[in-house]
Amino acid sequence: MSQAEDTGSRRDFLYITTAATGAVATGAAVWPLVNQMNASADVKALASIEVDVSGMEEGSQLTVKWRGKPVFIRYRSPADIEHGREVPLEDLRDQVARNANLPADAEATDQNRTLDADGKWLVMTGVCTHLGCVPLGDAGDFNGWFCPCHGSHYDAAGRIRKGPAPRNLDVPVAKFVSDTVIKLG
Ligand code: FES
Repeated sequence: MSQAEDTGSRRDFLYITTAATGAVATGAAVWPLVNQMNASADVKALASIEVDVSGMEEGSQLTVKWRGKPVFIRYRSPADIEHGREVPLEDLRDQVARNANLPADAEATDQNRTLDADGKWLVMTGVCTHLGCVPLGDAGDFNGWFCPCHGSHYDAAGRIRKGPAPRNLDVPVAKFVSDTVIKLG
């Protein structure tokens, strides 16, 4: 990889991190990821990547670039979990989970959106389902994400609650491959 490419990929990643997240994990958590992204910049089309989340703190979010798109990894706080789980299904505009790890018709319950049974980990493609902007974390009217492009509000489980976006944020194929490593794809 040339120096120019290396610098470019790092700048792109930092831009996404800054633009997409209100709360970014600690530097200790982000920096290994930046290195990881640089290392894999020329192979980012790979089907899967593994992300070490051991440095993340509860209530923080990490954004990684995967297959050319930002992916939000949120370590949810008890309040996030409570906000996500208190919402009746009938209050949701999009009642489909949009979770690639579940059947296509799975309901958009909080449990069907998160990676683990306790609901501590939420992994989503950070692309607004309206016209593709990157929503901001810790923002909006529903304790989740807000897309400033045209005003779409997503809740603590990434489900669309208000604004022009038609669907919940997509949950990509993801799983824990160890206590602290999430594999995407
Ligand atoms: S792209 Fe997000 S609201 Fe339009």
